[in-house]
Amino acid sequence: MARPTQSQQHPNLQTAITEVARKQIAEHGAASLSLRAIARELGITAPAIYNYYPSRDNLVTSLIVNAYHSFATALAKARDAEHGDHTECIMVTARAYRNWALAHPEDKDGMASALESYNTADLVIFGTPLYHFGMSGIMKTFIDRTLPRIEPWLIPHPDIPDTTFHPERFHKPEKMLLVSPCGFPEYWHFDSLVVTFKQIARMERFEYLGEILRPGAEPLSDSSLQGLFTEYYETLHQAGAQIIANGSILEETQANLQKDLFPGGKQAFYSMANAYWEQRMDKFNVPEEKRHSVPGNTILSE
Ligand SMILES: Cc1cc2nc3c(=O)[nH]c(=O)nc-3n(C[C@H](O)[C@H](O)[C@H](O)COP(=O)(O)O)c2cc1C
Repeated sequence: MARPTQSQQHPNLQTAITEVARKQIAEHGAASLSLRAIARELGITAPAIYNYYPSRDNLVTSLIVNAYHSFATALAKARDAEHGDHTECIMVTARAYRNWALAHPEDKDGMASALESYNTADLVIFGTPLYHFGMSGIMKTFIDRTLPRIEPWLIPHPDIPDTTFHPERFHKPEKMLLVSPCGFPEYWHFDSLVVTFKQIARMERFEYLGEILRPGAEPLSDSSLQGLFTEYYETLHQAGAQIIANGSILEETQANLQKDLFPGGKQAFYSMANAYWEQRMDKFNVPEEKRHSVPGNTILSE
């Protein structure tokens, strides 16, 4: 009798590969994920996996992207369901957060594998929203948890005169890129974030390649406005390609990245943002007197 072909054994081989990969991560941790082991478990040859994932990095990136999508979809579904009021909306969304985490044990924490990638990467991209003029709490926690990279001893810094340093357990000549969105439309809100990451780069001996910063970023997550951003996303792709090819973003590309996303300047931006909040408050029937807690503190553009 003829042996079943691989596609007969696994009608959707790509899904089967990701499922086995997720199972292996749940059982043994991300560090031990191997394409050969996945192939063995599926009864296929390793090159069959390369058709879908040319390398282990490729598979890991795809798993990370899928996990983010799955998490974001679970939260958006809970948020957009019918709710009695906004408190219920927040509670239901928070519960969806917890349920997702419990249902995806392979995606929990992940610090051990993140640290392994961090220690072996050629390029580390720090991506954080701007929260209160700095990085988010999650990003700060991640950076704090990179502490095992160093030993406790005090020695002079190898590059910076008259500066104290801890010996590194791991060092590669890594490169660093900073990516951050913020809500306000002015660029200078990123100043303290950039200084912080430049200091980390200098002290921890990264080559600082630059930054991609997007003020007025909140509408980027609005699916109905995506048509406005096609050019911006193309410029982002160009910037990424330039980072990979040349280690820096061309001046012209950087200038294009910093262009306003909307026609009409700040007033148009305020109107759009405020219309969004009005619409959210309408949805939950927030009475007029509760919309502006300081008397007379109404929206100036009206
Ligand atoms: C706790 C918190 C603090 C924030 N602080 C700032 C800030 O200092 N400056 C600013 O322009 N935007 C600020 N924002 C807006 C975010 O930077 C903005 O929403 C960003 O586009 C995406 O953040 P998100 O991932 O929370 O949606 C803040 C948002 C939150 C939730």
